[in-house]
Amino acid sequence: MRFGDLIYAEGEKAKNHKPIIECPDSVKSGEGFELRVYVSGHPSRVDHSIRYIEVYFYEEGRDFNPIKLAKAVFTPEYVNPEVTLKLKLEKSGTIFALAYCNKHGLWESSKRVKVS
Ligand SMILES: [Fe+2]
Repeated sequence: MRFGDLIYAEGEKAKNHKPIIECPDSVKSGEGFELRVYVSGHPSRVDHSIRYIEVYFYEEGRDFNPIKLAKAVFTPEYVNPEVTLKLKLEKSGTIFALAYCNKHGLWESSKRVKVS
């Protein structure tokens, strides 16, 4: 078994566990832009919450991937599972986001960003 086999992307629980990635489809090289990642409609209780979101970038043409961009850890009851990053990319690639629920495991989503 590989660790990647433990990451969910589909199924009945996807709707309120998969991270949602919002950013432009294409950006200019070296020009800053905003990336928002969040989980919608999930409880935020001590016994059941999205504990963290991690964001990675697969940069096309790079020898080793991914690049870890950020990790945001959330305290249940007080913080909603949402993070906004200011990014600057030089090359096209794919943003990957992971959201971890303490009851329902790791969930992933991705979005390609074209850099010109
Ligand atoms: Fe959950």
